[in-house]
Amino acid sequence: MATAQHDGLLQKAQRLEEQALRELKALSNAQLCEEFRVKYLGRKGQLAQLLDELKTLPPERRAEAGRALNALKETLTTELERRLDSFAHAEREARLRAEALDITLPGRRQKLGSLHLITQVTKELEDIFVRLGFEVVTGPEVETDYYNFEALNIPKDHPARDDWDSFYLDGFEDLLLRTHTSPAQVRVMQQRRPPVKVVVPGKCFRRDATDATHSMVFHQIEMLWVDKGISFAHLKGTIFAFIEEFYGKGFEARFVGDYFPFTEPSLQVHVRRKGSELRTHHGGRWLEILGAGMVDPAVLQEVDYDPEEYTGFALGLGVERMAMLKYGVDDIRTFYQNDMRFLEAF
Ligand code: PHE
Repeated sequence: MATAQHDGLLQKAQRLEEQALRELKALSNAQLCEEFRVKYLGRKGQLAQLLDELKTLPPERRAEAGRALNALKETLTTELERRLDSFAHAEREARLRAEALDITLPGRRQKLGSLHLITQVTKELEDIFVRLGFEVVTGPEVETDYYNFEALNIPKDHPARDDWDSFYLDGFEDLLLRTHTSPAQVRVMQQRRPPVKVVVPGKCFRRDATDATHSMVFHQIEMLWVDKGISFAHLKGTIFAFIEEFYGKGFEARFVGDYFPFTEPSLQVHVRRKGSELRTHHGGRWLEILGAGMVDPAVLQEVDYDPEEYTGFALGLGVERMAMLKYGVDDIRTFYQNDMRFLEAF
């Protein structure tokens, strides 16, 4: 009797295992797994019922049957976990598939900006000047009356001040936005002894009325070469050399007399496209691109250079003007309007 009961319990356990494993295989989701757990492994589940029956066995049989039931519990628990894992895995796979990125698609190209034409032309000119042996230096955009005018031989009551209508800084009688890059000449010469061979690019500001060839803010490059024996021939040679380098053979230049208080003699340089007197480009007109001259002895004296020993030449060129002619820009205002069609053209 005792043995029969024992065998019966083991058989029940055996059947339970077969049935449970079959059911487990058929489960299709995690929710059903939970139901399965309650049904077989829960507190009132089928396995618990079998464990209850242990009590009815004779004591000497209980240990063996108990081990069998424990083994069954272990089997069902592991198999259930494995099943749950497989659902979790499938779910993860599905999510990854749904979120999949096609990394073989070509990326969206980042649009690169380009340098503004003024910057390009400034760099182009600087490169030329560096090849001609000049050093690039800079000076402040806010200047004192002394550097902008006085040291350049333009005293307070000098009529030439009319040529540079200035923006003064509110509340600072003595400070203004530089009207040209020439004040940098004085600053450089104060700091160095000759030979001085520099170019100074930078913004300049004038209270001019704006028109096709004038802007209140514009760019200049100042050139200064002071040494023993610098003559007008150096000035002429340097100017024609860089103009030809910058414009190529298709342009021609001419010198026209002018007046600046800080140079003597002084001149302007005009450039036009060759043959443009026959065509309508810029109305066939010459465009003034720079002012120049031999450094006035008064300026050299101001920085304690002996004019008997040293001579030099200086020039200030208009970057916009030079660019207009080379790139066929008819109106200086186009440089500052930031029209994408204009910016992208260069
Ligand atoms: N500073 C002058 C101007 O802006 C140009 C210039 C520079 C002339 C150097 C002579 C020498 O008009």
